[in-house]
Amino acid sequence: MSAPENPVAAIEEGLAALGSQYRDTFDESADEQTLRDAYAKILGKKKGALTRVLALMRHVPGEERAPVGAKVNTFKQEVEKAFEGRLAAIANEQRQADLQARPFDLTLPGRLALGRGHLHPVMQTRDDLLDIFRDLGFSVVPGPEVELEENNFTKLAFPPDHPATDMQDTFWVDTFGPKNEPLGGSVLLRTHTSNTQIRVMSERRPPMAVVSAGAVYRRDDDLTHSPMFHQIEGFLVDENVSMGDLKGVLTAFAEALYGKGIPLRLRPSYFPFVEPGAEVDIGCVFCSEEDGTRESCKVCKQTGWVEVLGCGMIHPEVFESCGIDPERYTGYAFGFGIERIAMLRYGIPSIKLLFDNDPRFLAQF
Ligand code: DAH
Repeated sequence: MSAPENPVAAIEEGLAALGSQYRDTFDESADEQTLRDAYAKILGKKKGALTRVLALMRHVPGEERAPVGAKVNTFKQEVEKAFEGRLAAIANEQRQADLQARPFDLTLPGRLALGRGHLHPVMQTRDDLLDIFRDLGFSVVPGPEVELEENNFTKLAFPPDHPATDMQDTFWVDTFGPKNEPLGGSVLLRTHTSNTQIRVMSERRPPMAVVSAGAVYRRDDDLTHSPMFHQIEGFLVDENVSMGDLKGVLTAFAEALYGKGIPLRLRPSYFPFVEPGAEVDIGCVFCSEEDGTRESCKVCKQTGWVEVLGCGMIHPEVFESCGIDPERYTGYAFGFGIERIAMLRYGIPSIKLLFDNDPRFLAQF
């Protein structure tokens, strides 16, 4: 650009011209982006109009520069102030428009349809199983998951260091006294629901018929074992209770679950708190429905039988540890895993699926 005759006058004219321009363009900008564009046209560092005016500065003689510079600064501040003011006004206009638009109804149902939740399949199975026992006359009680060693093992006649204690590898709970001193290992996460036998039999006097369901914990983790799973415990104490009564109740239970005529057998087995003890198998409902050859059945491994629970006649020592006279009373007890029943019921191949909590899996129940 060639040097103007009077650079100071040229700058002042330039500022005046811009001055009448920017107010109008700011006022006309109806939204933030338009306003920002208009602002950039004037004060933008590279292509802004002011930059072009300022290019004349280098022609201004040294002694006149300060007052001209001050004018330019004042001009800049005015433009910025006008910009900020209009920006706030636009935000306000927008807000007023929003408020006056059709009101937002917070009470309307959402547009995204959320499916209704339901109980976890293990909990559904638990409730169905408890219902069966309720119908058979059992009452349902709760029991604690954090338990004393004596209620989980000792009073159930587990001898100290018996391999049965290893069978149920235990999570011990650290406990501390009033001075924060460790108290040692007498508290644990219950390894089975059999602790409820001790608690209930220590409190109630026979006759009693009780079931209890809940979580149990063991250091176990593979395709068929989870460190946390659920069990149901049942027991009945009265005079003259026999193993025949036990088999009768278990048969009624199996038939309620799998239908009339389901085969059931008791196999001798060992649990410290019962004598005699037995394991119960029921006829495999998976393969017997097919061709009868059982050749392809993975559930029963071609045996035709599926193990479902442990049971037996309550050991006299257990009665004694609960203050019940074993000469007068007899009783039976049984216990089983809920997941196992749920897996058999729904044909679920891995216990892990039950605890991954994948909604695509859970939605199928
Ligand atoms: N508590 C045993 C377990 O977790 C299951 C059991 C076996 C319970 C025999 C009983 C019983 O009441 O009589 O392996």
